[in-house]
Amino acid sequence: MQGKRILLVVGGGIAAFKTPELIRLLRKEGVAVTPVLTRAGAQFVTPLTLSALANAPCHTDLFDLTREAEMGHIQLSRAADLVVVAPATADLMAKMANGFADDLGSTLLMATDKRVLIAPAMNVRMWDHPATQRNRDTLVEDGVLFVGPDEGDMACGEWGEGRMAEPEAIVEAIRGALAQTLPSLTGEAPLRLPPEAVIVPPAPPQPLRGRHVIVTSGPTHEPIDPVRYIANRSSGAQGAAIATALRDLGAKVSFVTGPATVPPPARVEVIRVETAQQMKDAVETALPADAAVMAAAVADWRVTNAADHKMKKDGSGNPPALEMVENPDILAWIGHDERRPRLVVGFAAETDDVVAHATAKRLRKGCDWIVANDVSPETGIMGGAQNAVTLITDEGAETWPRLPKDEVARRLAQRIAQALEDAPR
Ligand code: CTP
Repeated sequence: MQGKRILLVVGGGIAAFKTPELIRLLRKEGVAVTPVLTRAGAQFVTPLTLSALANAPCHTDLFDLTREAEMGHIQLSRAADLVVVAPATADLMAKMANGFADDLGSTLLMATDKRVLIAPAMNVRMWDHPATQRNRDTLVEDGVLFVGPDEGDMACGEWGEGRMAEPEAIVEAIRGALAQTLPSLTGEAPLRLPPEAVIVPPAPPQPLRGRHVIVTSGPTHEPIDPVRYIANRSSGAQGAAIATALRDLGAKVSFVTGPATVPPPARVEVIRVETAQQMKDAVETALPADAAVMAAAVADWRVTNAADHKMKKDGSGNPPALEMVENPDILAWIGHDERRPRLVVGFAAETDDVVAHATAKRLRKGCDWIVANDVSPETGIMGGAQNAVTLITDEGAETWPRLPKDEVARRLAQRIAQALEDAPR
């Protein structure tokens, strides 16, 4: 790489803290780096740091007239052998995919005739978002090279794909990109790179490809009258994380969700319901399935005498009497139904004697596994980002450490894949 020149666009993400190390590694290899810092990038790393490490001026402003006189942005964008964007935020990817050029970084990316390699970095949900995935596909089509993102803990406390590749991996990707004899973008024919020229993370294994899994999630709302309902504190975070993890292992997921506070995952079939009865109907419609994971916090009771008009105070000072009836138990029904999926997983939200209650629940509801958790208010689990679960199977109880809900979901999805491994498709 000795003597090669890289134009490095630094986007505005927390991962920008790794960019100085990237510059240091490149300099060690004898690469000349010209840093370009976006306005958002400057919130995370200073131009002085970048220019000191690169031993070159750091460009920051499209309308820096002195510099424009010295070197126009067109020239700047072409003086390099490769343009690297690290970190490439969702916003920068969107600009690149759609041809926006409203600041120096995006203008250089539009004006360059050189290959572009990007290291995306963003929150897992932003990476998974259909818009970002669309932009990624467009950029791959346009011949942009990718390194990462990696899977792992995020600065925001979540776990998943979206971490910027490590500086060492970016250096290797740059080495690979520079070594490829890539056609120039200024060639007559529009450039379409062969897929093998695009550096993307290895596809995760897909042991659940060809499997259908139903996941219930979130609370249910049981109406009292048109404006009031009975609900519970479930956020739907654990169910959404499970659906995501199953999807990532290749499963087709039917995600039956009550009115949750977290958004449903991308690239799953989302069936929105409100009441327990609607949830049961939706699960029934989604059958057959290889597995069902009942993570919803279904209301146990509904009001039989729900009013079809807003109930009014009658002036007597007496509250209305609500008559309640038990809701269908979706887990117990599917556990005993003739169309029962091969693997049925229930949850048990308990506040005391967790293992004993959950073990009894497993037998009573006819499910294979119960994921039991302690939802006493002091645990902060319901509505929180973490979960401490005990998995109860026919072999006994297995207590998992307290983990982010995404990691609980990932482990559970792996176990489901193992359990279905030998089942006929
Ligand atoms: N469940 C269900 N349908 C219901 C109630 C619960 O499918 N009407 C499922 C939940 O999705 C969860 C499991 O049953 O997978 C256990 O839920 P939980 O609220 O812990 O149990 P309950 O049935 O309410 O039992 P108990 O009142 O004894 O705690």
